Amino acid sequence: MKRGYFITLEGPDGVGKTTQIARLFNAVQKMGLHALQTREPGGTAIGDAVRQILLNPDYSRMTTLTEALLYAASRAQLVQEVIKPALLDGKVVLCDRFIDSSLAYQVFAGGLDFDFVWYTNRAAVTDCLPDRTFILNLDPQVGLQRRGKTLADRMEQKPLAYHQRVQKGFLAIAERFPERIIVIDANRPVESIFSEIWSYLEPALASLR
Ligand code: TYD
Repeated sequence: MKRGYFITLEGPDGVGKTTQIARLFNAVQKMGLHALQTREPGGTAIGDAVRQILLNPDYSRMTTLTEALLYAASRAQLVQEVIKPALLDGKVVLCDRFIDSSLAYQVFAGGLDFDFVWYTNRAAVTDCLPDRTFILNLDPQVGLQRRGKTLADRMEQKPLAYHQRVQKGFLAIAERFPERIIVIDANRPVESIFSEIWSYLEPALASLR
C-alpha cells in the first residue's frame, strides 16, 4: 500500500511550474520529509528518449494519437521505475506534469476522446493517481511570450488557438475532479503563488511526519 504523498503541478506552457516545484521541494525537505522531484515527459532514461521524439520539431507529422500513446508510454515507465517505489518508501513525490496534461493537450486541444485517453492512462499508471494536483492558470499568450519564440519545441510551435484550448481544457478538468485539483492564479509574483500552494499542502503533509 502507498504511504507517501503524490503531488502534480499542471498548466499551459510557460506558467512557471518548474520554479514552483523547486521551491516546494525545498519546503518539503525543510519539514523533515523526504521529497522526490521528477517531470514528464521523461524522468527515466527511456522516458527521456521518448521525450526527444515527442518534442522534436522535425516530427511535425506526428498524429495526436501517436502523441497520446508516447506520453502514456513515458508515464508508464516513470510510474513503475520512479514514482511507485518512492511512494512506497514514504516519500513526497513532486511531478512536473502528469495525466491531466494528456487530457488538456491531447483531448481538449488535440480532439481525442476523453474516455479513451483517460482509461489508457489509468492503465499506464496502474491507477497510481495524484493525491493533490495544482493547475497554474495563465493566459497562454503570456506563457508562450515568457518562453520566447526562438527555441520553441514541437508542442510550443502549435498555434495559439491550440494553447488556448489547452488552458480551457485544464479548467474543465479541474471542474471534473474537484476533490483532487486546485486551480491557482499564476498571473502573480512567484512568492504569492508559492504561499497559496503551500497553504494547501502543509496541513496535508504535516500528518505524514
Ligand atoms: P516541457 O518542456 O516539459 O514543457 P513545460 O516546461 O511547459 O512543462 O514539454 C512538455 C510539453 O509536452 C508541453 O508542451 C506539454 C506537452 N505535454 C502533452 O502534450 N501531453 C502530456 O501528457 C504531457 C506530460 C506533456
